[in-house]
Amino acid sequence: MEKIQKIKGFADILPRDAQVYDRLEQTAKRVFAQYGYKEVRLPILERTELFSRSIGEETDVVQKEMYTFPDRKGRSLTMRPEATAGVVRAYVENGLHAQEELSKLYCAGPMFRYERPQKGRMRQFHQIDVEAFGSPSPYLDAEMLFMLAQFLTELGLQDLTFELNSLGCSAPDCRPAYNDALNEYFRGFDGGQLCEDCLRRKLTNPLRVLDCKVPACKELTRSAPKISDYQCQSCRDHFSTVTALLDAGGLNYTLNPRLVRGLDYYVRTTFEVTSGKIGAQSAVAGGGRYDGLVKTLGGPDLPGVGFACGMERLAMLMGECAPEAPDFYLAVLGEAGLHAGLLLTQKLRAAGMTGECALAAKSAKSQMRQAGKSGARFCLILGDSELEAGTIVVKDMTAGTQDTISQDSLLDHLRK
Ligand code: HAM
Repeated sequence: MEKIQKIKGFADILPRDAQVYDRLEQTAKRVFAQYGYKEVRLPILERTELFSRSIGEETDVVQKEMYTFPDRKGRSLTMRPEATAGVVRAYVENGLHAQEELSKLYCAGPMFRYERPQKGRMRQFHQIDVEAFGSPSPYLDAEMLFMLAQFLTELGLQDLTFELNSLGCSAPDCRPAYNDALNEYFRGFDGGQLCEDCLRRKLTNPLRVLDCKVPACKELTRSAPKISDYQCQSCRDHFSTVTALLDAGGLNYTLNPRLVRGLDYYVRTTFEVTSGKIGAQSAVAGGGRYDGLVKTLGGPDLPGVGFACGMERLAMLMGECAPEAPDFYLAVLGEAGLHAGLLLTQKLRAAGMTGECALAAKSAKSQMRQAGKSGARFCLILGDSELEAGTIVVKDMTAGTQDTISQDSLLDHLRK
């Protein structure tokens, strides 16, 4: 029969890698709990409108990258391309804002984007996503960046760059004024200079031109007006409080006025963390403030801020974890020992020990090889004579020594 293969851009995460993902999640859980964040687990499938309304009609994610299809009743559904929209939906739908002034939530899981797969870029990838709702304070932005930095440090990652920008707000003298300036700037460029998408974007959402990946468009944006020159006083104050806190807390960052992010919901503080060690797809985390989003999705006018880390990219930086060594491997020499061997193994497991036993009485050589391969601290050997005498041979795999002891004292012996 022909083999069935996985879909392009999707990956199997096998035990060695799964251990790294587990370490990522455990570290996140521990660090985020220190800051008062609680876990949520949300659906992968959502109504398409959730994403088009929040991420923005003009973004690449909504225009080109979503896995969207009708369900059996013809309703348009989308496999989440990111987590923020779903977390906001759940926050509003479950009325969390009525229960607490500040909600700090995180989740982890698969996301789906129909992008061209390459190193560090998958069609199914995994994020650890963090969101906080209810506070407009710049202290929250800074605290979140400190938490992200602590998380990355505790994973043992170094040489990461924090890039920071402020995207302003909807006040007339802020982002709208910047949009006008961009409009004015791009007006002079036509189809020979801008790509087809950007010809549309320059009219509908000129900020998106700054995020275009086409080299010619990128080149043209070099001398475009800078967003830092078009911020209202309140946004300037907000951002300077954030940067002053980061300076005082010793978090190094660089300012990048071209950092506009690929999603439309951001205002004020935005950030990305990049690594020089994983190739072109260098962003390991990204996020920012999204004060209008809760309202856009039908909730009260409450502010939010968050970020997401790409687990595939973090895993590439972390390398492999050393597998955890089991306590024992139980080898059985002779059919008669199989029964007693499995029952003894169950006793050891019930006492908290980790290990496996032979399921067939193969040759001594083959079972010793198996014990070695398992990485166990002890190899326990149950032959016919031990079975008769109620004893067992305990071989210390590191020291190479071996003792014959009574089965009754086995647990004590292993614990010692
Ligand atoms: P994002 O920048 O689109 O932001 O994605 C966050 C991270 O997910 C990226 O920095 C990257 O590490 C990883 N990532 C994105 N796409 C892929 C892919 N195709 N393959 C592998 N990794 C990928 C968001 O998704 C926002 N929801 C973050 C956020 C949360 N903002 C506020 N709250």
